[in-house]
Formats: sequence, structure tokens, C-alpha cells
Amino acid sequence: MRTEQPKMIYLEDYQAPDYLIDETHLTFELYEDHTLVHAQLVMRRNPACAADSTGGLPPLVLDGQQLELLNLALDDRELTVADYQLDDSHLTLQPTQERFVIDSSVRIHPESNTALEGLYKSSGMFCTQCEAEGFRKITYYLDRPDVMSKFTTTVSAEQHSYPVLLSNGNPIATGSEGDGRHWATWEDPFMKPAYLFALVAGDLWCVEDRFTTMSAREVTLRIYVEPENIDKVQHAMDSLKKSMTWDEQVYGREYDLDIFMIVAVNDFNMGAMENKGLNIFNSSCVLARAETATDAAHQRVEAVVAHEYFHNWSGNRVTCRDWFQLSLKEGFTVFRDSEFSADMNSRTVKRIEDVAYLRTHQFAEDAGPMAHPVRPDAYMEISNFYTLTIYEKGSEVLRMIHTLLGAETFRKGSDLYFERHDGQAVTCDDFVQAMEDASGVDLSQFKRWYTQAGTPRLEVSESYDAAANTYRLQFRQSCPATPGQAEKLPFVIPVELALLDAEGRELPLQLVGEDKPVGRSRVLQVTQAEQAFTFLNLEAKPLPSLLRGFSAPVKLSFPYSRDQLMFLMQHDSDGFNRWEAGQQLSVQVLQELIGQHQRGEALVLDQRLVSALRSVLENASLDQAMVAEMLSLPGEGYLTEISEVADVDAIHAAREFARSALATALFEPLWARYQVNRELSRSTAYVAESSHFARRSLQNIALSYLMLTGKAEVLAACLEQFEVCDNMTERLAALAVLVNSPFTSERDAALQSFAEHFKDNALVMDQWFSVQAASTLPGGLVRVQALMQHPAFTMKNPNKVRALIGAFAGQNLINFHAADGSGYRFLADQVISLNASNPQIASRQLGPLTRWRKYDASRQALMKAELERILVSGELSSDVFEVVSKSLA
Ligand code: PHE
Ligand code: ZN
Repeated sequence: MRTEQPKMIYLEDYQAPDYLIDETHLTFELYEDHTLVHAQLVMRRNPACAADSTGGLPPLVLDGQQLELLNLALDDRELTVADYQLDDSHLTLQPTQERFVIDSSVRIHPESNTALEGLYKSSGMFCTQCEAEGFRKITYYLDRPDVMSKFTTTVSAEQHSYPVLLSNGNPIATGSEGDGRHWATWEDPFMKPAYLFALVAGDLWCVEDRFTTMSAREVTLRIYVEPENIDKVQHAMDSLKKSMTWDEQVYGREYDLDIFMIVAVNDFNMGAMENKGLNIFNSSCVLARAETATDAAHQRVEAVVAHEYFHNWSGNRVTCRDWFQLSLKEGFTVFRDSEFSADMNSRTVKRIEDVAYLRTHQFAEDAGPMAHPVRPDAYMEISNFYTLTIYEKGSEVLRMIHTLLGAETFRKGSDLYFERHDGQAVTCDDFVQAMEDASGVDLSQFKRWYTQAGTPRLEVSESYDAAANTYRLQFRQSCPATPGQAEKLPFVIPVELALLDAEGRELPLQLVGEDKPVGRSRVLQVTQAEQAFTFLNLEAKPLPSLLRGFSAPVKLSFPYSRDQLMFLMQHDSDGFNRWEAGQQLSVQVLQELIGQHQRGEALVLDQRLVSALRSVLENASLDQAMVAEMLSLPGEGYLTEISEVADVDAIHAAREFARSALATALFEPLWARYQVNRELSRSTAYVAESSHFARRSLQNIALSYLMLTGKAEVLAACLEQFEVCDNMTERLAALAVLVNSPFTSERDAALQSFAEHFKDNALVMDQWFSVQAASTLPGGLVRVQALMQHPAFTMKNPNKVRALIGAFAGQNLINFHAADGSGYRFLADQVISLNASNPQIASRQLGPLTRWRKYDASRQALMKAELERILVSGELSSDVFEVVSKSLA
């Protein structure tokens, strides 16, 4: 908890550390009511720092928080209080030699650590979370990523309750102490920063497998879970082996220790953590089997396992110099895992999902008070910067480099980067430098993507000269002001495009100045504020297919007519852009309905949307997952994001009206496709594989439309699906539509039987909370408040907070934005209570309130009042203080 106003930390103030820690020897004695940590640090003056003019040594300032210092020695000499200074976050002492050894002993209290940072207990086991600055809650240390050290760790604990004792690296010794306690020592041969340290002690079972690397090294793979979950780890293990193979094939990266371990923990602030050789995962990102996890959960497990594994190179072997460089590892690793998922499943569908997510959530962040560049230049609390911008936009920046350089040259660049910087802590500039050196491409202007916040707009207009057979595309880019950045310079925007003829064929692309066409789909670079490209030899005016595959994270606009969008939906050879055309058509139609609602007119759906979706549904050759994606109307969150002033009620009414009208008009093809797919689901056993995902996704979106018709045969089918299925994907989809339906007795019965059946499975109960929290039927807040009293709910578990409170505020927009402000008041109350127990989770729940500028004057006032109430509610964590104060600024 902060005692004074938290300070801003600036990138420009970066200074190399005065001292280095060559070796770190840790001993943990774990007890039920406290833990003792002994640390021996073998240190020396950093040769990179110039000695000061007097030739003296600078003071050594170690980080440390919430530690009870028991002993301190410098080179075997016990220090007394006169020898050092202690405040609530530092221990300062004066070395007298260039090389020295510090020994310290501290007492800490993992058993009462509710913030889940540092060493803490979760479901009876001990575990750690050190990124970004949690290690300082374990021992006094130079807790910064550019201080890399070789770690040896001994863990001692009572044997019966904690039979498994783990840390990073390889196990080198074990023993028992005769008093019911035992110990194990682990040694990590690789230098690493403290944020990659991990320790686990608990009563765990593991599934073991092996992997032979490309140079024929044998690696033991282990996934540790609580005994009752041992039947839910095979999917994660399969995902791990696929990831290891993929990283060898696509990036030439091989695993480097003899053992790789994953541990699942129930209480975790984030998804997972890439600690060297000992990844610690939120159990929601490891456990998956048909009966208890949806297809989406299976895909998430696969992606997160890959992400954390990939960090072994992009993050661990080459790490960040300071936390401003966070996207160096996160953006790159998200790009790597998204390409992995694209290779394992459907590439186009993966891209659609990622882009829909980015445009709804990251674009909103980039337009709000917390907007920051991919490489921020200031922060108060680093935990607040694990953002969609660092992760998802960071990944888009890497994708653009990949697009500009091509896969092969990009690979040369990544090889050079890993080779040049292995064992180092580096910057985003170092990464780009490696890409430039390997390719010969000058990326200096491109680097503005790292330093300028905000989502660029790209307005495109066309003109056709029938006499000259030329077609001109005029691009105009701009970027709105963001906090601290009023003016922006032009970005390098790669625009992949094609020109289509009246049959939808791609035309040869020849620009003015070129002596022959260069392909039929190509990447142009828009680098100026205004720039035109003229294409030659076009006998008729073509239709452009722009920003194919979403080749840059921008808001592109082109004055397409609805008929042109319908044409692109059918004919564009770029699958992503076929979907995108459908989204743009839907947005136009929905915005028209929103206008009608606002003017108090009767709502009338443009029948072109009906016929466009009818032909999608009737097209048997389309990938079923694509059909499902194309049937999904833009969400309320996205419609909010693209509104000048979001009219919550009109958006909800318009979208629901469109869904019902589509359901009625398309009843027959929806029902036909539902029945075929449902029959296949009934007759085939569940497989977690992409063609099965596709089939079930179409089945379930069809069901969600069909239920809007209120027909008895649909209700019967829904109940049958709910009751008779071998997997959570079908069961939960049926439950979700029932929860949103007017069939109250069927709904209540389904909710009750589901809870009865799954009451002992926390992850399944999270889903049960979520579908109810997201239900847009009236009375949402009252339902959520009642659910908070449910025995399976607890504010101490981050997954529960996200499942109930996060889903309500983030997905149930019509209820959260109730005009009386009750939703806002509720959320503020939860943030105030979480602020004391878990600041990171508290701060993350604030997102929806920070967007207050998007709404009408009365909602703005209500939202601001709640932010102000939080601000004066008492002692605020730096996490919550930063977000609230920036939101009100
Ligand atoms: N570094 C983790 C990841 O992206 C995320 C994380 C950050 C986890 C901070 C815990 C704490 O893989
Ligand atoms: Zn990561």
C-alpha cells in the first residue's frame, strides 16, 4: 500500500546498475505460519559503470518490500543497524570492495499473501509469481531485469503436505531432515533476471512425457496438478510437444534444459508465467478435457502453453533491459503463438478472432485515458502495463515487420537477434536493429509504431480514368491525439491489396513507373500523410480489396456501397476480407437501425443483409468455422468503440432486433445446418481438432439464432443438446442460450442441474457464473449480487472475480450501463474492496469505468463520480491510483 503519491518512472532516466549479482544462492524454509528466506548474493561492481571521481564505490541499494530482516552480513561480517539504512522498499549499505558477498535472512508471510505476488499459498500449495517486481517481496535483491544471475535454490518443507519441491533448472540433490521435513536443491545453469525465478511446494501429481530435440537431446516433460485434475492434462502435454516441434521448425529454436515443467495453480492473477524451466499456469490455461472445457478453452490452453514455451527464447534467453521494453518479449511472443495457432488450426479463422478482439478492446484502450505506445516512456505501476497494447498491438507491429520483410528475411533477422543477444537484456531498438541488419531495410520511420500511441486512421478514395485506363487510390493517414502526444508523424502502413474485376478475379497490378505487372495481390507502403498510387492497364473500373488479412492495425475507411460489400463477401479470394466485408455490411445496417431507434421510428432491417447471410449459410463449400464467423454480428463492444457517443440502449436494441429478424428470415437454413451438425455431434465422440471445432461453432451459433424464434421444437432441441452431449462446448452453449431465453422454468432447471453436477469443479463453475453475469435480460445487477453469495464464489480467487464481476462489466453492457448508475456503483464498490486484498486485480476491473468519455452526459457524470469516490476511498494501491487518476485527468 502506498504511503505517499506514487512516482512516475521514465525511460529516459534509465541507468545501468551499479552492481551485478553473479550468483544467487537461496534457501527457503517453508512453515505454516511463516517462511524464512536466506539469500547469498555474490556481487561485484558493474564494470560498465564509470567509477566516480573520488574513486569510491557507490552505495548498494537493494529492493525489498514487506520483508522482516533478521540477519545481514557483508563478506561474513554481521552488520548492525548502524551499517545500513532501511525503508519500506529499500535496503541501502556501503560496499568497501569491488567484489563482495551479501548474506541476508528475512521472514515473510506467504500464508497471508492475498495479492498473489511474490511467494504465496494457493489451495494448500506454495508458489511464486515474480514478474514484474514480485521478487523484492521474497528477499532483498536488485530486482530489475538487466541484473542477471545464476541461481541455486534449496527448498525445505514438511514432507507429508509438500512432497513435491520444485524450482528452476535441474534437480541436483534431495534429502530429509529426520523431523518430518525434507529438502531439494535445484540449479539453473542459465543466467536469468529475478522475475523468472520460481518455486513450488505442494502435494501434486504429474503426467510425464519425453521430447527429443532437433539435436537429439532428451528432455523430460512434466505437468504438475492437484491429484483430482490428473485426468485433464493430456491436451496441454500434446500442445507442449507441438510447440517444441514448431519452434524448432519455424524459428530453429531448441529447448535447453534437461527438464521442462508446468505447474497448474488455482489462484493466479494472469494467464501463465514463463519462469525458466518451471512455467506456472493459471489452472484455467492448463486443464482441459471434453466433459469440462469448451473448444475455446482447448484452443486457449494450446495457445498459452505455446506462448509460455516460446518465451524460453523470446524473453528468457534474450530478455528485456527494463520494463519499458516489455513488448520486446510480449509482442514478439504473441506474434509467435498466433502463428503457431494459425498453423495448428484454421489460419483465416484465427486471424478473424484476433482482429475482432484487437479492434474491440485494444482500439478502445488506444482511444482512452490509458493509451500508451507499444514502448511506453513513463509509468507509475508496471503491473498496469501488461496491456492489450503491449501484447496485441505489439504483436501486430511484429506482424508488419514480417509482412514488410517476408518470412525468409524475417527468419534471418530473428536468427541474428537470438545469436547476437543470447544471454543479454536488450531493448526494442536492438530487435529492430537485428531486423535491419539482416534485411538491409531501413526501419527508422517504421519505429514510430513503437513510440506513438493511438490507432491511425487511413481514409482511402478512388478515381478511375476510363480514357487512360488508369485507376488511382488516394490514401490519407492521420492519428488522433493521445495523452502526452498531441501531434503524430506519419506511420509506415503496409497495405496488402488486390483489384477485382466484375467476376471477382484478381487483376494484374502494375503501378505507374513499372514496366510490367507485379503480382495480383501485393503490399504497398503508405508512408506519407497523403499518398496516391496509380495502377495501369485497367479496362474497367475495378473493385479494391484493401488491407487484406488486416495487414496493419489501422481504421481503414473506403466508401463501399452495400452491394459492393455483398460482392466482396462472395468473391474476395482473401478469406479475411470476405469476413471483413460482411462485418462492414453489418455495421452499416446496424448503424441504420441504431438511427431508427434513436429517432423513435420502427426498425426495418435491410434485406440485403438477410440475403447475404442466406448465401453464406447455403454455401456448402465454405469452411464451417468461416460460416459461423460470418454469421456473428459485430458485438456491442465493437459498436460502442466505433461510435462517437455510444448509445447503449440503441446499440442493444438494434443488434437484438437484427438477430431476431435474421433468425426468423433464415429459420430454415439455420435449422437445417443445426440439425445436420447436431446429428454429427451426437454420433461422433468429441475430438479437440479444428474441423470438429468448426462444426460445433456453426451448430452453436445456429442454435443461438434459432432460440430467438421461441419455437417449441427449438427449445426441445436445445434442452436435448444440454442434456445429451459428451462435451462442455455443446452443454455450455445450450445453457447460455437458455439463460438468455424467456423460458424461465427450463432456464432455472438447467442452471440448477448444471451447478449440482459440476459444483466441485471450480473452472466449470466459473463458466456457470459467467453465462449468468453476461445475460442481458433485465435485472442483471441483482442476479450478479445474488451470485456473489453463492458458496462457490469468492473474491479471493481472480478467476471468480473475472467470471462474475469482469463478465458483468465487460460483456453485459446493457445492464452495466443502467441509466441509474447502479452498475457503476457496484463496480466501484468491488474495486475498493479488491484494492486492499489484490491491487492488480482491482486495477484490471477498472477498464469499463475508464471509458466514460464514450457515453452521454448523464452516464459520464455517474461514471466520473464513481472514479472520484474510489480516489478518496482510503489508502489506494499504486495500481488503482494510477488508473483512476489518469482516467480523471
Ligand atoms: N509474462 C506472462 C506472459 O505473458 C504474463 C504475466 C505477467 C504473468 C505478470 C504474471 C505476471 O506470458
Ligand atoms: Zn508473455
